[in-house]
Amino acid sequence: MSTHQEITALVGDQIGNDPEIRSLVEQLSRRVEQLTTQIREVKGPQPSCREVGQAWVERTGKIRGRPLHYQFVGSGAGRSSLVELMDGSVKIDLINGIGIHLFGHSFTPAIREGILGAISDVVNQGNLEPNREYTLMLEKLVSMASRGSRIKYGWLATCGTMANESALKIARQKKSPARMILAFQNAFAGRSTLMAEITDNPAFREGLPEYHEVLRLPWYDYRDPSSSEKTLRVLKEHVEKHPNNICVFVFEPMLGEGGYMPAPREFFLPLLEFCRSQKIPIWLDEVQTFCRTGEAFAFQKLGLGEFVDIVTVAKTAQVGATLYTEEYNPKPGLIAGTFSGSSAALRSGLAILNEIDNGTYFGPGGKIEKIHQFFVGELKRLQEGSCRGKIADVTGLGLMVAFTPLDGKKETVNALLQKMFEKGVIAFSCGKNPVRIRFLLPALISEWEMSAAIKIIEQALIEGVHGAT
Ligand SMILES: Cc1ncc(COP(=O)(O)O)c(C=O)c1O
Repeated sequence: MSTHQEITALVGDQIGNDPEIRSLVEQLSRRVEQLTTQIREVKGPQPSCREVGQAWVERTGKIRGRPLHYQFVGSGAGRSSLVELMDGSVKIDLINGIGIHLFGHSFTPAIREGILGAISDVVNQGNLEPNREYTLMLEKLVSMASRGSRIKYGWLATCGTMANESALKIARQKKSPARMILAFQNAFAGRSTLMAEITDNPAFREGLPEYHEVLRLPWYDYRDPSSSEKTLRVLKEHVEKHPNNICVFVFEPMLGEGGYMPAPREFFLPLLEFCRSQKIPIWLDEVQTFCRTGEAFAFQKLGLGEFVDIVTVAKTAQVGATLYTEEYNPKPGLIAGTFSGSSAALRSGLAILNEIDNGTYFGPGGKIEKIHQFFVGELKRLQEGSCRGKIADVTGLGLMVAFTPLDGKKETVNALLQKMFEKGVIAFSCGKNPVRIRFLLPALISEWEMSAAIKIIEQALIEGVHGAT
């Protein structure tokens, strides 16, 4: 029997290729698509759903022991950036679960593949008994990451934090017994015991013991012409003070939770060259930047691939992953775990990655660049016109955009975000001193949707919030 015949004899293939199943899946996803065409524009809570929606929000807060940040419980339907909530309102979602939904809501290819994943034999796949999606996802991630870098292998994890835990262990095993970690001020790496230590926010580790294992570097300050030199100097001081005791340099190629502040290649270059000369492993945390900056990886956008030893992703991929070079392939037993992602999430994640990597989104003139230019252009128009003095520092890369509103104080920004939410735009904060408003734009957002969002942002800024200018 030929290989082809053997493969088609598999019951698993018969299910996946069965014309009746394929047609049912197509019908299901098309029907969802038809129904979601009703979601057309921003609207407020609907009288018939308002109370039910409110009850869901309260019920959710009650069981969490803490209220929801926004009055948001989704109905399970949306369309592109538009999302329907349980109170019947429709909002423009420009934060997308903090970066999970790269293609916004009710994205048909993800739904279709999710159904196919859901009818496979297992709900969750594991490292011991994977199905094909496990391999395909790793192959896709490694093939995207290997462009311009030496990345060769990968290991799946359930989220960004766990991908980061694996990265740290890989670096530590390689540099054993070195302990100290180089990271930027205002970094974010997740909330496990150790990632909460790398994350530079004391509020996220209140009451936890400190391990004193992180050495901080100042992030790029575009206002300061000697910013790069300063950071390099601090780096050299750390290395001098901790000889042979630094296990890794970890950084987000654009400061994420810390304020959406990009830095140029020239800032990173001397730092990475120095780390390389000191044999300090280099790990890029691309959990948030993956697929958003205009290239698959921000290190490709910045031309830093030659320095990458380890890179971590999650969010957009619908699963976490640690990707590494030959040299950093860890010894057996160091990284593992039961789960490697649900079959539906792995298939949907692959559909998302195949779409974003189809040659039309990345690179100069690609869809991401066009979205960036339009949205940033509109924010700058407000900055110079109707919202003069109310918007500062419009920055970002690709689909990640932020600005500092009004006085940049936490209370002001939170009140403004709530106002925007009520009017129909969902965004989120980042940074401290100043606190900024950030957007994670979906990769298929239309100019019409962006213009509608900009109008709401403009209205909210002009109305302002109590006590702030
Ligand atoms: C840069 C970065 N690293 C790590 C994480 C943690 O990922 P997760 O929340 O999936 O554990 C995040 C989440 O926002 C992040 O932005």
